[in-house]
Amino acid sequence: MPRVPKVKAPPVPAPLRAPPPRPGEEHGKVTAGQQAQEAGITVVDWIDERTSLSGAARWMMFRKVPKGTNWFYTLGSATMFAFLSQAVTGVFLAMYYQPNPNGGAYESIRHVTNDVFLGQFVRGMHKWGSTVMVVLVFLHMGRTFIWGAYKYPRELNWVIGVVLLVLTLVMAFTGYLLPFDQRAYWATIVGVNINGTGPLLGPYLSDFLRGGGEFGATTLSRFYSIHMLLVPGLIIALIGAHLYLVTKLGTTAPPWQKAQESEELREAEA
Ligand code: HEM
Repeated sequence: MPRVPKVKAPPVPAPLRAPPPRPGEEHGKVTAGQQAQEAGITVVDWIDERTSLSGAARWMMFRKVPKGTNWFYTLGSATMFAFLSQAVTGVFLAMYYQPNPNGGAYESIRHVTNDVFLGQFVRGMHKWGSTVMVVLVFLHMGRTFIWGAYKYPRELNWVIGVVLLVLTLVMAFTGYLLPFDQRAYWATIVGVNINGTGPLLGPYLSDFLRGGGEFGATTLSRFYSIHMLLVPGLIIALIGAHLYLVTKLGTTAPPWQKAQESEELREAEA
């Protein structure tokens, strides 16, 4: 069974001290910048002495990456930043949004778009950001598939990834209803009906999404709570587990890198 290589963390750099005085500079005179730097170091030291967090931070950040690592390895982090952007813009939208099907939802979105300072910009970021996140998550999945990163010992990370993919799609689906305009309403009815055609669980799933047999007021509040509480919470927890495993197991070297290496090995053995 292949063994996962252990990554040795590099030593902690020595704390920064005021450099020796330059010629003409008064001995022992510390500039405001150096004072600020020292103050920062003191605060970090104070926290570290009480929490020992620097060990975990070093374990997380100072890792060996395989030879041949390239831009495709940034797709996972890009997906994460898309999620963070969705979380931040979503918080601002939630300050104005009212999940009220009798005109309140539509009116609150209209208010954000037309009256609130930078509202249209934040709403646009959230709306386009959702598409960006869906595209990125698929590209990232494609990268890990082509690289064979789903194989031992990363199967569990692949499974967590599949759940993250489904949750990302649930976010996009539940968010689409929230403006509660004609397009959102009818598109969601179609989406819920498609879910209802699934084998065995389909009818129960569509009943759950509608909040009963009919599409109504409960549907909107149910979609809103799934969209802003349930699924983001699950995504945050699963991204944490996903990144823990990436740090623990390291990333996979590109397949051609391995092929090249075994070719070199064959040549050396011949
Ligand atoms: C919210 C969605 C996701 C986020 C934020 C995320 C984040 C990341 C990050 C930051 C990495 C390390 C850097 C990299 O290889 O790109 C990574 C690695 C990985 N991800 Fe994801 N990911 C997500 C979804 C997925 C999905 C949908 C899959 C597959 C079904 C997946 C499978 C993997 C695997 C197998 C690795 C290890 C790659 C390797 O060893 O080279 N992830 N992920």
